[in-house]
Amino acid sequence: MDYQSLIARAIEAKQSAYAPYSNFRVGAALLTKSGKIYTGCNVENVSFSATSCAERTAVCKAVSEGEREFAAIAVNGDNKDYLPPCGICRQVLAEFCDMETFQVILANDEQDYQVVTLDRLLPGAFLAENLKSGESHSPPGKEV
Ligand code: THU
Repeated sequence: MDYQSLIARAIEAKQSAYAPYSNFRVGAALLTKSGKIYTGCNVENVSFSATSCAERTAVCKAVSEGEREFAAIAVNGDNKDYLPPCGICRQVLAEFCDMETFQVILANDEQDYQVVTLDRLLPGAFLAENLKSGESHSPPGKEV
């Protein structure tokens, strides 16, 4: 995998960040299994919880274009050390990405980066298989 090119795209995407409240810009570049790259930046909102992180922006762009198979994501932030994706972004990545093989590239620049698989960032993830309906559900109104 060409980590350098993916990181370069994340750094470039950071330039579009809309971060007037935190002044902390983040860029992400998401690689599909077919080799396409979708970028994203953080898009903040005065109602802070409406903010979209760079990683989720990239995932939403890709999925809305019909992509669902992903190989890796590079993330670059305005901080001095590797930026770990937030918990919500980890969960969103887990929706589409294979936990054991999907690579998260925490990049300070094209030469200085760490690669971790998603299962290391989100151990014990809540996944679709955990949502199966079964007899163990409490009936309505029953206290648990
Ligand atoms: N942020 C991201 O874009 N990705 C992350 O994984 C961590 C946080 C953004 C959200 C917000 O705009 C700013 O960084 C400060 O939290």
